[in-house]
Amino acid sequence: MTKTDTLKELAALASLKYVKSGYKVGLGTGSTVKFALEGLANNLKNGTLKNIEGIATSSATEKIATEHGIPLITFSRVTTLDVYIDGADEVDSSFDMIKGGGGALIREKIVAQNSGLRVIIVDESKLSDKIGERWAVPLEVFPMAAAVEAEYLKTLNAVSQLRLDASGDPYITDNGNYILDTNFGEIPDANKLSKLLDSRAGIAGHGIFHNLADVIIVASEVGVSEIRFGEIHKFDSLFKALKYMRSN
Ligand code: A5P
Repeated sequence: MTKTDTLKELAALASLKYVKSGYKVGLGTGSTVKFALEGLANNLKNGTLKNIEGIATSSATEKIATEHGIPLITFSRVTTLDVYIDGADEVDSSFDMIKGGGGALIREKIVAQNSGLRVIIVDESKLSDKIGERWAVPLEVFPMAAAVEAEYLKTLNAVSQLRLDASGDPYITDNGNYILDTNFGEIPDANKLSKLLDSRAGIAGHGIFHNLADVIIVASEVGVSEIRFGEIHKFDSLFKALKYMRSN
């Protein structure tokens, strides 16, 4: 296992304490969440956790959860979830996030908006001073609008690229749409950009997550830190400690 995988697993396992017996759980997508799914399955098997039901944010997560025996439901059964556990591509101290590297951004946002407690699990490589610094924002676009939205994004000085699959064809999301990975550079006001993108009919959804995290668990060289929304000082201390360690 690589060092990054070890950190992902540490963050994922630290999130499991937020899942109690009887809970309805939002199951995120990605390589970090995979460790959380394995942990949940172990807790179900050894009896420390009972009667949980999950809603998967992607067909990939649905497959992993099913293979591990985690019972799944849909929003036809419940309208709110107790807790949601997911990774992120980039996070900053305002708790703004870029998500959707795995292409599941719309379902992830639906689950995040309908969960009581949103727990985000990341390794230290996901931390930025401001989101957008290092990661493009995935925009899920209706296929017929891909070209016009790409033109619109140029007017915002953003550079977009159509995501391709392994065979070089357009990547198709679970919702049948395309993704434009769009580099805005550093995003000073995530809420403003989020609203602007929401106003475009051709954009089905985007990977800027604003006000959708309650707890961020960061696994890093200095250990596992749990930061609650608003605890900017904790984020700043962690940044300083990591920058110090990297420069020495
Ligand atoms: C999935 O669409 C994403 O939002 C993931 O949550 C994000 O890409 C993090 O993935 P990893 O845990 O694989 O880095």
